[in-house]
Amino acid sequence: MHKDIQEELVTQVQIAEKCKELGALITKDYEAKNENPLLVALLKGSIPFLSDLMKEIHIDNLEFDVMSVSSYDGAKSKGDIRIDLDLAYSLKGVSVLLVEDIVDTGTTLKAVKELLYNKGAKDVKIVTLLDKPEGRVADVKADYIGFEIKNEFVVGYGLDYNQKYRNLPYVGVLKRSVYE
Ligand code: IMP
Repeated sequence: MHKDIQEELVTQVQIAEKCKELGALITKDYEAKNENPLLVALLKGSIPFLSDLMKEIHIDNLEFDVMSVSSYDGAKSKGDIRIDLDLAYSLKGVSVLLVEDIVDTGTTLKAVKELLYNKGAKDVKIVTLLDKPEGRVADVKADYIGFEIKNEFVVGYGLDYNQKYRNLPYVGVLKRSVYE
């Protein structure tokens, strides 16, 4: 284990199993609706999850796009977001499946969901690998959740602290001494 990690919360094996499980569920749900979702991943944290999850979604002609957003006014954000990198696709009439790494306050997710509807999406569903329900401020809920975790700062499998630790193959709690 990395020296800065206090505890491994979700192992590489558990993540792989969860991607299979979520992929099967998503495949079943969209087949039943006869819809082909466009996967939209938020950079950068969702990339490992997008990569593993999409291989477990067995729908023909599945496509994905990425976007990058940041909050206005940092910690004081009321949920206004700025688009740093926009989607290449038009969303008019499209069913979007938004792929997230973690939902904490839910502020980002709520704003992004509204933004995607404003861009013309006909439906927006959310899949998140991790959910920290104790941190929730905004009224938003993911439709597919990998793991509910306690309210601790985690890194790995795409999640960072100062852009580091994204390459860890598991999700772990960062030692407080690293950021305090
Ligand atoms: P929210 O708007 O508070 O739900 O924040 C969501 C974003 O904050 C995620 O997409 C992450 O980029 C970041 N974030 C929230 N909790 C953590 C964490 O424990 N580790 C790393 N990043 C986090």
